[in-house]
Amino acid sequence: MLDGKKMLFSGMQATGTLTLGNYLGALKNWLTLSDEYECFYCVVDLHSITVRQDPAELRKRARNLLTLYIAAGLDPVKNCIYYQSHVPAHAELGWILNCFTYVGELNRMTQFKDKAAKHADNINAGLYTYPVLMAADILLFQSDVVPVGIDQMQHLELTRDVAERFNGIYGDVFTIPEAYLGKTGAKIMSLQDPTKKMSKSDENPNASILLMDDTDTIIRKFKRAVTDSEAQILYRDEQPGIKNLINVYSCVTGKTPAEVEREFDGKGYGDFKLAVGESVANHLRPVQDEFARLSKDKAYIDGIIKENAEKAGYFANKTLRKVQKKVGFPERIR
Ligand code: TYM
Repeated sequence: MLDGKKMLFSGMQATGTLTLGNYLGALKNWLTLSDEYECFYCVVDLHSITVRQDPAELRKRARNLLTLYIAAGLDPVKNCIYYQSHVPAHAELGWILNCFTYVGELNRMTQFKDKAAKHADNINAGLYTYPVLMAADILLFQSDVVPVGIDQMQHLELTRDVAERFNGIYGDVFTIPEAYLGKTGAKIMSLQDPTKKMSKSDENPNASILLMDDTDTIIRKFKRAVTDSEAQILYRDEQPGIKNLINVYSCVTGKTPAEVEREFDGKGYGDFKLAVGESVANHLRPVQDEFARLSKDKAYIDGIIKENAEKAGYFANKTLRKVQKKVGFPERIR
């Protein structure tokens, strides 16, 4: 709790360009939670180097991502928006929690298995302990709630297990966090293979909508979206392509899937795909414009980076000191 408000933490990697999946699964929900919670939104650059990065490119992407958080509508006065690498407590708690996480638990992580298969030449220890650093992110801020997409649920379960284990030994040190999943956007699927999630690392450019895609590109990609030959717009598992498009449309318009079915009753897939494309493009345009404007305001963004790193550091260090004391590290002499 801070000033009577519950705590919220979430973050994104600065690798690749954000997709509509990241936006609808996470960022868009963040906007609605700002008033209710004390919010910390991190650009998780420590996590990014678990796969090899070009340094200049990573720096640029991290700054773009931080700017995008604000462009999407997060008020940087109400929400603490910062870089993970500016708050060393993340790595320090990460180390301590490594000593409270079992290898057997990490072996079960499906994202590790997927990424290890993708980067077979660089299966580094950081990639393996990635979920422990994520647990540290969340637990440092005594988070009550963590808004994420479905793909992060396994990591969140691990976080809860590690926190409960630690609390079991040392008393109530960590708040046990809950996931917050959106109703329709928690798993946005690839437009080319609706059985796979939409992902930044997909090699097929038509599979993902990128947040910075222009209107024509967005409409073209939706027109090419893989669907089926049922010729009816129904929200059901047997039609995963159409179900995915309904989820997208529902997220950006605020309509329920049942309302979307009614709206397009008797209409063809062509009309529906065009409507989805146009609504997404119209939704993203103001975010893109604001991003372009903010990107030019170096002093403003620099100010946020400096102030928010201090705020996040202050809070994170309180938890870290408590943990260090609990595990038996010597007191600092001032
Ligand atoms: P990342 O950067 O892969 O994704 C950022 C957020 O986007 C969500 N997401 C999706 N949601 C719906 N449909 C999709 N197709 C889709 N793809 C991605 C993710 O679930 C996530 O919420 N490990 C995290 C970053 C992280 C983190 C944290 C998150 C590090 N520490 C602490 C929460 C709390 C990750 O790689 O997310």
